[in-house]
Amino acid sequence: MRIRKALFPVAGMGTRFLPATKANPKEMMPIVDKPLIQFAVEEAIAAGIEELIFVTSSSKRAIEDHFDSHFELERRLAEQKKYELLKIVKNILPKGISCVYIRQAEPLGLGDAVLCAKHVIGDEPFAVLLADDLIDSEVGDSTHCLTDMVQSFERTHASIIAVESIHLSDSLNYGMVGLAPNVHDYPNLLPINRIVEKPLAKDAPSNWAVLGRYVLTPHIFKALESLPKGIQGEIQLTDGLARVLEHDALYAYPIKGKRYDCGNQLGYLQAIVAYGLRHPKVGTAFQHYLNAHITLAAESLV
Ligand code: G1P
Repeated sequence: MRIRKALFPVAGMGTRFLPATKANPKEMMPIVDKPLIQFAVEEAIAAGIEELIFVTSSSKRAIEDHFDSHFELERRLAEQKKYELLKIVKNILPKGISCVYIRQAEPLGLGDAVLCAKHVIGDEPFAVLLADDLIDSEVGDSTHCLTDMVQSFERTHASIIAVESIHLSDSLNYGMVGLAPNVHDYPNLLPINRIVEKPLAKDAPSNWAVLGRYVLTPHIFKALESLPKGIQGEIQLTDGLARVLEHDALYAYPIKGKRYDCGNQLGYLQAIVAYGLRHPKVGTAFQHYLNAHITLAAESLV
């Protein structure tokens, strides 16, 4: 079955970016001039997604507004003949893409956020994208991460999770998977034989970490329904996936592009530098600025 729906869990409070995220959703933080959530939505649409399901909470209205039309702004831009900007504002979502917003009543974790969308997703496979993980497909492979995963799902019909190798000392920040040899010979995929949420380095099954891109079968809902709270007192998607693994195959997709962890300040700054340097308007000037800045900094060390 084709993957038509994508879930964006955007209810998190973004405490690492306070005070910026006190009244603004962390998913609306811009990489130069495009908010993080728009990158994730564009990746989903490129993979053939037609329905965007946002699981939100209070103070996330800006996300809804961003993907809606803004009559006043559009009229102003038209009056001022700023047609290029008008096009950007009007074409955030292509025609035929629909949005659904669901409130997550309590901050009970990623697994609970997925469960909140059960009635909208129904009995079909779907994608989950965490906007914090910005995957830059212009580095390395030119295909979007989710496009590759959706195409792989057409062969496996089993859930697929994006992974990346990390330093084991960071295992406490990620779901960690153990991998088995690929007996089915699916290109780009490896079977998962264990999955654990945020283990200590000594308990991690390997150094492969789960990233915020999933293609899931609806079996995940049954697994999540009766799940007790896991680490951090939350219903963990990873724990639900561990249950799915008891009966079904689960595959890991090692990503090809470069991933920026925009859920922390350093990763966010690195993303801004990478995207800023190739920005059509300011890229060259930014490059000159950085070169001069680095030279000055090097001179001050002499
Ligand atoms: C979530 C998941 C975790 C995954 C991570 C990827 O954690 O629970 O398994 O590795 O996203 O970014 P969070 O970053 O929300 O704590």
